[in-house]
Amino acid sequence: MNRISVGVLGASGYAGQELCRLIARHPQLTLRFATANEQRGATVRLGRHVVQYIAADEAPLHDVELVFSALPHGASKVWVERIREAGARAVDLSADLRPGNGCEGIPYGLTELNRRFVDGASVVANPGCYPTSILVALAPLVEQGLIRPDATVVVNSASGVTGAGNSPKRDLLFGEVAEDFRAYGIGNTHRHLNEMRATLEAWKASCDLVFTPHLLPLARGILSTMVVPLAEPLSDPLEPWRAAYNAEPFIEITSDTPALRDVRHRNVVRISAAPLEGMRAPALLVTSAIDNLMKGAAGQAVQNANLMLGLEETAGLPA
Ligand SMILES: NC(=O)c1ccc[n+]([C@@H]2O[C@H](COP(=O)([O-])OP(=O)(O)OC[C@H]3O[C@@H](n4cnc5c(N)ncnc54)[C@H](OP(=O)(O)O)[C@@H]3O)[C@@H](O)[C@H]2O)c1
Repeated sequence: MNRISVGVLGASGYAGQELCRLIARHPQLTLRFATANEQRGATVRLGRHVVQYIAADEAPLHDVELVFSALPHGASKVWVERIREAGARAVDLSADLRPGNGCEGIPYGLTELNRRFVDGASVVANPGCYPTSILVALAPLVEQGLIRPDATVVVNSASGVTGAGNSPKRDLLFGEVAEDFRAYGIGNTHRHLNEMRATLEAWKASCDLVFTPHLLPLARGILSTMVVPLAEPLSDPLEPWRAAYNAEPFIEITSDTPALRDVRHRNVVRISAAPLEGMRAPALLVTSAIDNLMKGAAGQAVQNANLMLGLEETAGLPA
């Protein structure tokens, strides 16, 4: 069978490496090029592939059908334009084309919710890792009108350190992170809030969001807990998700509390919900877990690419 050639920009980064591994095991894709910046020229093994990183300027964009851009924010947008000029499709993993970042109208690749826009698209903005863990979990409540109007939804998320990329940073040294746990982006200042607010606005949700990320001394995974004020009490707290995601292969609804070990190296969002006891007004605690490099980045990017290329949505993805 003829495989479809794809390329990865930023392949030496955490998201890019994961993309290369997924492409290596994908039944219909083949990796034509992988780029790096400081690490250009290095040879590494990623899954089945032995890859020599080339500079982005040397990438044969004309020779591929689709390019994944796993470049840093700000550097990616110009490359998506070059990819399009070369006639290839693009999945942009950076924030550059996501909602709320000054570039509206590009299909936003929360796959389960936006399939109809992603199917056959030439460019897709792949969601951020925190927004994936939060928006996929909140969507059924918004869609079914279950959140109390004008409520404040309070979200606490904890992420492993790969969420920050692999360029050296002092505050991400082992000695700084190990045996510690801290909040950052406090005061509702994290850059992913733009993307989440713009999406909630597009869904016509009237709630406010208070989002506090935390840094976990682990390599990978995001656990989010969300306090959601309800318009009415729910007789079955999991019913909204069962109704919305019944046949979804990459969404797991569970009565247990999701844990990171349940989702590591898997392209899934695992969701649970429980009524909050002792409150004056009804409220739910919703919990979600993802692997930030899989469903939060490379896995969802491949899921979107599959739809853009007319392939089976699940092709090459670990369930
Ligand atoms: N990490 C996650 O969990 C995650 C989740 C969702 C989305 N994302 C997004 O995915 C993108 C990549 O994230 P990451 O965590 O993989 O970052 P990363 O580990 O820092 O990797 C960045 C990649 O881009 C290359 N690069 C850096 N500056 C460049 C430039 N000016 N021109 C060309 N190449 C350049 C780097 O090459 P060298 O290695 O040679 O420097 C590396 O290959 C980011 O936009 C990020 O926001 C990441």
